[in-house]
Amino acid sequence: MRAMRSIVILISGRGSNMQAIVRAAQTEQWPARIAAIISNRADAEGLKFAAAQGIPTAVVANKDYPDREQFDAALRLVIDGFAPDLVVLAGFMRILTAPLVEHYAGRMLNIHPSLLPSFPGMATHRQALQAGVKVHGATVHFVTPMLDHGPIVAQVVVAVLEDDTEQSLEQRVLVEEHQLYPRAVRWFVENRLSIEDGRVHNSAAPHER
Ligand code: GAR
Repeated sequence: MRAMRSIVILISGRGSNMQAIVRAAQTEQWPARIAAIISNRADAEGLKFAAAQGIPTAVVANKDYPDREQFDAALRLVIDGFAPDLVVLAGFMRILTAPLVEHYAGRMLNIHPSLLPSFPGMATHRQALQAGVKVHGATVHFVTPMLDHGPIVAQVVVAVLEDDTEQSLEQRVLVEEHQLYPRAVRWFVENRLSIEDGRVHNSAAPHER
């Protein structure tokens, strides 16, 4: 049997995607263990869930560091203390410096609430409504130094409804994120994913997608 893969998840707030991943790992008995949940904010709601699950938690507060470089250096030390095979950004609201991202090249995933490359950055649901697109969604991608870019692992499409508000759209996308992200992380831990010329190849069978 393949060795257990070790996952560290980074959050900044609610942590609902993190919860979905933790639950899927348990109920689907992934060959993986959640080694730690790390937050850049001590008051992140998701830390309570992690602690209640008995998962180690750590806080590296960006406000304690004078600049991004020093914050990222401290963050890297804490992450590497857990020796992860995979680092999962789940609502982690910090722009990471290139050296940090490159250190985790090919083993750091992010979820972004839009169909990338459309609408990188903040307020994606507002951007979608303003653009008048008829479909929106979410993307899981490998992290590269360019914000909200990087090889795409999976996407989910959500129809934009006539009477959608930013909140209603966000809510429907979030429900889909909770299905999409655990699936993508599972493919990684099962060694299904490879990157070739910036494209992700997935060896999972159709019924496993
Ligand atoms: C999620 O919608 C995630 O896609 C988004 O923040 C939310 C976090 O919710 N991430 C980004 O916007 C990253 N640029 P959660 O803490 O409940 O998972």
